[in-house]
Amino acid sequence: MEFRNYINGKWVKGRTTFQTINPANEELVAEIAQAEISDVDAAVSAATEAFKSWRLVPAPLRGELLFRVGDILKQKKEELARLLTQDMGKVIAEARGDVQEAIDMAYFMGGEGRRLLGYTAPVEMPNKFGMAVRDPAGVVGLITPWNFPIAVPSWKIFPALVAGNTIIWKPSPETPAISAAFVQVFEEAGLPAGVFNLLLAPGAEVGKVLVEHPGVRVLSFTGSTITGRAIAESAGRLNKKVSLEMGGKNAIIVLDDANIELVTDATLWSAFGTSGQRCTAASRLIVQKGIANKVKESLVERTKTLKLGNGLEETVQIGPIINKVALNRIHNYVQIGQKEGARALAGASVADVNGKGFFYNPTLFDGVKPGSTLEAQEIFGPVLSIIEVNSFEEAIEVNNRSQYGLSTSIFTQDVNRAFTAMRDIFSGLVYINHGTTGAEIQFPFGGVRGTGNGHREAGQAALEVFTEWKSIYVDYSGKLQRAQIDNREE
Ligand code: UN1
Repeated sequence: MEFRNYINGKWVKGRTTFQTINPANEELVAEIAQAEISDVDAAVSAATEAFKSWRLVPAPLRGELLFRVGDILKQKKEELARLLTQDMGKVIAEARGDVQEAIDMAYFMGGEGRRLLGYTAPVEMPNKFGMAVRDPAGVVGLITPWNFPIAVPSWKIFPALVAGNTIIWKPSPETPAISAAFVQVFEEAGLPAGVFNLLLAPGAEVGKVLVEHPGVRVLSFTGSTITGRAIAESAGRLNKKVSLEMGGKNAIIVLDDANIELVTDATLWSAFGTSGQRCTAASRLIVQKGIANKVKESLVERTKTLKLGNGLEETVQIGPIINKVALNRIHNYVQIGQKEGARALAGASVADVNGKGFFYNPTLFDGVKPGSTLEAQEIFGPVLSIIEVNSFEEAIEVNNRSQYGLSTSIFTQDVNRAFTAMRDIFSGLVYINHGTTGAEIQFPFGGVRGTGNGHREAGQAALEVFTEWKSIYVDYSGKLQRAQIDNREE
């Protein structure tokens, strides 16, 4: 297989290529044309030109185009899911979910084509009318990670397009094949040339040039905290709008009255699904002392039965880690945890699956201390730290002391505690009797504290990132009416 960059409606060859390999077996998935700095200029020029006409296409028609994208994604769901699994490793059921999230987003944002609601309000002068409408922001730069190579980009691409923006997308170099296949769907749906451009490149250079390019007005980034902060700093200097979605240290709180079987199912799914490589993965289990031993026993027993392997096999539950560097980083954190006195109840080792690929055994740590590395740092791997607490109040406090604030769950049958938790948990996503993963696209997605910078993706909230408000006053009195002055007696 071979994939290229997509600039101004053409698949462009590079001077050099790079490769994407399957992390489950280290086999070559595709050869990829490598974008260069000059391609950023070409893409921004194309997007700038295309913006002139795309912003004038009536929004309902832009929406209809997104419906077509949704239809094609539906037809190609299985094909895309299989390529996605090969490109980054997640198990096929999750890959199908990844594509489904984009299908849902396509239809949801397609519908926005007939809303994109602004508002009118009464004005203080007679014979005058006021309204606020949404304008597209212009050319937008999107930088996305490999862990949800279709779903997460779709949270940015669909709202940006329906609002009338044009796009330059720089996906992770770990998932170039599925990214290009995703763009092919937009081409097939008939998106005009230049509206959606794709740059594929390893390293930070192309992304950096894109971030700093004067022609790019808005940046939306999902990925590591270090990169996100660097982008925000550049964007701040250049007066660009920037939306960041970064780390998480998400907790599942288990109170003494919780249903153990449900807690076990939800915890395994949230902590070890996508091999823990989700920004919403549960990496802390904050459990009340009275139920702690039973929960641990149940988790240890079930963790040991999880089947690791190539995600294309339907019975496999845990796929590989994205690459060797990440595998080493995870193991390094585990060793630090052990040095700091935490006790591994399961896993804590690199797994051997037919001698190939990058696998890590799902890991449970007991006795994780306040302020320790395991409690505080995002590991982005299948490592769950168990923290025991005495009370409901202490559980909430432990949750809220994290530097991140993306997703928190609580398991309890007590309705009063559930509502108190809904109020007192400081996270962007709160789940009652459900794991920390499973956000639906019609609601805002994002986090507080170190997770983000105050923006939200998905839902109607996503439109705030990609639109500018324009307030319009129409005076039909035929004379000068000075606001704040002429309607006052005194
Ligand atoms: C992410 O973790 O990077 O709620 C995105 C979920 C998914 C999206 C997660 N719908 O877990």
